Amino acid sequence: MEVKPAWWKESVVYQVYWRSFRDTDGDGIGDLKGVIEKLDYIQSLGVTMVWINPFNESPDKDNGYDVSDYYAVMNKAGTMEDFDLLVAQTHARGMKLMMDVVVNHTSDRHPWFMESRSSASNPKRDWYIWQDGKDGEPPTNWRSYFNPSSWELDKATGQYYMHSFAIEQPDLNWANKEMRYELYKMLRFWLDKGVDGLRLDALALLAKPKLLTDVENPRDIRYLMHNPGLHEYLQEMNHEVFRHYDMMTVGEIAFATPETGPLFVDEERQELNTLFHFEVADEMPEWDMLRFKRIQRLWAEALAGRGFGSQFLNNHDHTRQVSRFGNDQEYRVESAKLLGMMIHTLPGIPYIYQGEEIGMTGVRYDTIGDYKDIAMLNKYVEEIGKGGDPAAVFRALQPLSRDNSRTPMQWNDGPNAGFGSEEPWIKINPNYTEINVQQAESDPNSVLSFYRKLTALRKSNPVMVYGDFTDISGEDPHLYVYVREYEGSEWIVLLNHSNESSTFTFSETYFGNDLIHLELELVLGTYEQTADSWSCEKRSMELRAHEGRIYKVVS
Ligand code: GLC
Repeated sequence: MEVKPAWWKESVVYQVYWRSFRDTDGDGIGDLKGVIEKLDYIQSLGVTMVWINPFNESPDKDNGYDVSDYYAVMNKAGTMEDFDLLVAQTHARGMKLMMDVVVNHTSDRHPWFMESRSSASNPKRDWYIWQDGKDGEPPTNWRSYFNPSSWELDKATGQYYMHSFAIEQPDLNWANKEMRYELYKMLRFWLDKGVDGLRLDALALLAKPKLLTDVENPRDIRYLMHNPGLHEYLQEMNHEVFRHYDMMTVGEIAFATPETGPLFVDEERQELNTLFHFEVADEMPEWDMLRFKRIQRLWAEALAGRGFGSQFLNNHDHTRQVSRFGNDQEYRVESAKLLGMMIHTLPGIPYIYQGEEIGMTGVRYDTIGDYKDIAMLNKYVEEIGKGGDPAAVFRALQPLSRDNSRTPMQWNDGPNAGFGSEEPWIKINPNYTEINVQQAESDPNSVLSFYRKLTALRKSNPVMVYGDFTDISGEDPHLYVYVREYEGSEWIVLLNHSNESSTFTFSETYFGNDLIHLELELVLGTYEQTADSWSCEKRSMELRAHEGRIYKVVS
């Protein structure tokens, strides 16, 4: 089906978790100046857009996702001048800047909330969600992401306020029009400063359940999301803000499915450009090839001709992809390249999370005291409160802790891995002596060099952006083989997600009679030596452990 070209569809996004990227002022926390300092490096990756995590004023209970002033830059991050310079310097290098905005909730220290909680008759009371309790208990049995209840009693007025995340992150009441328009004004403020893209946090939660009733299984928090009214809010936001700018929007849409996802990005509906769904990152704890293929196929079918998707396997909330979905031991480099090749050749916009391009791995700190992630720390307290054995709870929480991907960027093997002059806010992964940018720069076969090839390829091959997608690997549990096709150019991507070699046999089912004279030319391989041509007599192709190859069909 025909896809309309647009610059944002051709994006390769690099996500910068600035507090763990580069610290220039020696406070142990990364900063905007650090991002500016590394813009040449970011540009050298061949990416087109830089997404920076929230840097607005915040008490930092949830690393900036608890905003107390939407119009100010957090001291730790720097100043408004730094931000303006970041925009200018990013643009000067031909890249765009994407900001992360949190509009589902604020910090409990935001003046709006302080006013709202000050009395039941305050004009801002209705900007948040207040409810009476039920017989001395919270209004409903709903959970929050980070706590056993999504309600917190506020003694001053005797009512409960709702929070989908931490207690310090009260949810805004999107049913209040005045509040919504205040947020739109804020978005325009940043877009007028030259921001080119918005990553919109926790969007699925904006509209709240209409009925205040208990749910059967509070742990399955889907009831908090995708409630009636959500799409009207997004259409209004688009109408009031997005359509007035040449920009890109990506929504964080938890629990989006191939049925509901297209509603957010269908070009006719004028809501968002693209979305993150979490059927892999949240819902598939370990690599499961058949499940992954199914997810990709269903989404590709659902979005075809309607809207544009996004591809990622890790971010600041999800463990490093090479550790979670690859093999970070004997095949670290190979599997990091394989996963990269997959993300950059599947349909949708590819995102690179800082450090992924050098194959950074997850971390296992020794004690709970080394961890900073509020989601993990709250869960730890909750499980122990229920009688869990501390050591067992700790071990169980480690693999998926959000801190796995929040360790400082590994620039070199020197002091603090080149992150800064002082000890960082969170411990460095001890493997920085081997895994770091400096080492990767000096190795033509590094993950880094490979990522540069991937991004360069996209620039000159629209088939990677706009090509149709057909999975031709069936139910093979290790091999993922698919075809991308666009305006006469046809690519075949073969990926062997396995510690063993695997053989793929080309069949007539897809190629029909063309199989007899099918000729392939290698475009890119993850291994150093790859036979550079293939001819139809062989019919099959052997791939080594974690090997990936892209071929062009030449006849
Ligand atoms: C999003 C963010 C996450 C944050 C949460 C609450 O999921 O990515 O880091 O904790 O929203 O704002």
